[in-house]
Amino acid sequence: MRIVRTKNYEDMSVKAADLIASVILLKPNCVLGLATGSSPIGTYQNLVKKYQDGNLDFNTVRSVNLDEYKGLPRTNPQSYYYFMHDNLFSKVNINLENTNLPNGMEPDAKKACEEYDTVIKSMGGVDLQLLGLGHDGHIGFNEPNTEFDKTTHCVDLTEMTIEANKRFFNSIDEVPRQAYTMGIQTIMEAKTVLMVVSGKDKAKILKEAFFGPVTPSVPASILQFHPNFILVADEDALSELDK
Ligand code: GLP
Repeated sequence: MRIVRTKNYEDMSVKAADLIASVILLKPNCVLGLATGSSPIGTYQNLVKKYQDGNLDFNTVRSVNLDEYKGLPRTNPQSYYYFMHDNLFSKVNINLENTNLPNGMEPDAKKACEEYDTVIKSMGGVDLQLLGLGHDGHIGFNEPNTEFDKTTHCVDLTEMTIEANKRFFNSIDEVPRQAYTMGIQTIMEAKTVLMVVSGKDKAKILKEAFFGPVTPSVPASILQFHPNFILVADEDALSELDK
């Protein structure tokens, strides 16, 4: 595990975008594993800036997203499809045919998950997987006590996750209760894993995940065993380590 310590969210976002850009420069047809949530928004903004400045080309980049809510149409502004279009895909020259998310509108969970695993396999795996960190240590939507050997699967979201994500919806009742997510096995198979973490509210779980025991009760803790895991975190998120 390598830790890149940054001053704040902005600094974290610049550095994470630099790392992603270096992967694209070295392998123009790389497969990026992408994430949603507020943590990577700044990273995407910096990637867009590099593209606008003529310093980064997404023409042959391919992508697979971590997760998608079950039952939300792509047109719903809270769907992760919408999020990706809004924050990145519509702002760079990525070929939309090369972008992939689980199909949240497929009601048959087995079918949706198998199809997504086939897509990931057909692309030859993920070169760099970007991740945020949930307050309960979840990655993607792999909630506490998910087995480490899962590929794409359907999850029941925990109360904590529903509560944390309700800020994006009109009311808590609108937050979907289920999602399709890449499994931890798939995440661990990525060649590089890059996690962005910012803010004091993540400090406790960051310490638990990366300086505590590796346990399914803190899903992100498995990343301690990843051979190429980079944690880009700001001072607030790292503040519990100094204690
Ligand atoms: C959601 C997403 C995760 C994300 C997490 C943290 O549950 N499925 O991929 O990492 O939220 O979000 P945030 O970055 O907004 O704290």
